[in-house]
Amino acid sequence: MSKNIIYYFTGTGNSLAVARSISLAMTDVVLIPMLNEDALTYIDTHTESIGLIYPIHVNALPHAVIHFIQKIHLPSKAYFYVVATHGGIPGMSGLYLNKILKKQGIDLKTYYEIEMLNNTPKGIAPKFLMRLNWEQEITPEKVDHKLSAMKIEVENIVKGITDKEETTLQKPPSGTRIMMYWMMQIMWLISNPSKYKLQFLVDDSCNGCGICEQVCVTKRIKMNEDKPEWVHDHCNFCYACFNYCPKEAIGVKYYTKKLGRYHHPDISAQDIAAQIK
Ligand SMILES: Cc1cc2nc3c(=O)[nH]c(=O)nc-3n(C[C@H](O)[C@H](O)[C@H](O)COP(=O)(O)O)c2cc1C
Ligand code: SF4
Ligand code: SF4
Repeated sequence: MSKNIIYYFTGTGNSLAVARSISLAMTDVVLIPMLNEDALTYIDTHTESIGLIYPIHVNALPHAVIHFIQKIHLPSKAYFYVVATHGGIPGMSGLYLNKILKKQGIDLKTYYEIEMLNNTPKGIAPKFLMRLNWEQEITPEKVDHKLSAMKIEVENIVKGITDKEETTLQKPPSGTRIMMYWMMQIMWLISNPSKYKLQFLVDDSCNGCGICEQVCVTKRIKMNEDKPEWVHDHCNFCYACFNYCPKEAIGVKYYTKKLGRYHHPDISAQDIAAQIK
C-alpha cells in the first residue's frame, strides 16, 4: 500500500491534470478516482497523507464528492488536504467544504484553490440566462496562459504538502462579501444539487461516435441508433459529454454552439471513463 493517496473527481480533466502533476512531485503515492468502487480500501493505518482534488461546482462541491467524503474515515495521524479547481469564481466553496468535513469529524489541514479554464461558463444557469450572450470565448491562447499559471500554482501546493503546511480555512469574509456568504448559506440550505435536472440537446452534426456515452460515468447516456439519449436523471453535472463531443453537437438547454468547448488537453475521454470500475 502506498503511504500517500490522492483521490480525484473530474469532468473535463482539470482536476485530474492537477492531481497528476502533484503526484509526479511526490514519492510513494497512488492516484485513485473517488468513483472507483474500491477507492476506500487503499486507506490503512500506515497512510500518511490523503488529498482530495475536485472541481468547484456552483460555489460548492460536486455531489459525487460530498458522497465520497461522507464515506471516508481517516487514520488519526494522516495529513489531510484538499485542492479545488475552479473557473474563476470559487465563491465560498471552502466554507461549504468545511461544513461537510465538520459533520464527518474530519480535520482539514490545508485547503488550496487553483483557477483553471471554466468548463461551463454558463454553469447551470436558468434558461433565460442561457440565451444571453455573456459567455467568454475559450481560445487556445487562454488555455495556454491558464495552464502555465497552473504549473506555478502546483509547485507551491507541492511545497505546502511536502512541508505538511497547515492553514486555516477562509473565515466568513467581511464587508460586502459577507452578504454574498449569507446568500450562499441560504442557497445551500434550500437547494439540493443532486435534485437539479440538466437537460441536454443534440443537433444534426452528431456523427454517432459514442464518445458522450463513453465519458458519462453515471451511465446516463445510451446510444440508440447512433444518437445519444439521456435515459435517466442521475447526473454528475460534470459536463464531460458536452465538452468531449468532437462535433460540438451537444448543447445545454438553449445554449448550443456559440461557445466552443473545453477539456484539458492532456486528459483523454478514456481517462474520464476510467474513473469508474
Ligand atoms: C456544474 C458546474 C458548476 C460550476 N460552478 C463553478 C463555480 O461556481 N465557480 C467556478 O469558478 N467554476 C465553476 N465551474 C467550473 C469548474 O469548477 C472548472 O472548470 C473546473 O476546473 C473543472 O474541473 P474538471 O475539469 O476537473 O471537471 C463549474 C463547472 C460545472 C460543470
Ligand atoms: S460525442 Fe457528439 S458526435 Fe459523438 S455520439 Fe455523442 S453527440 Fe454524437
Ligand atoms: S450526462 Fe453528461 S454531465 Fe451528466 S454525468 Fe453524464 S457526462 Fe456528466
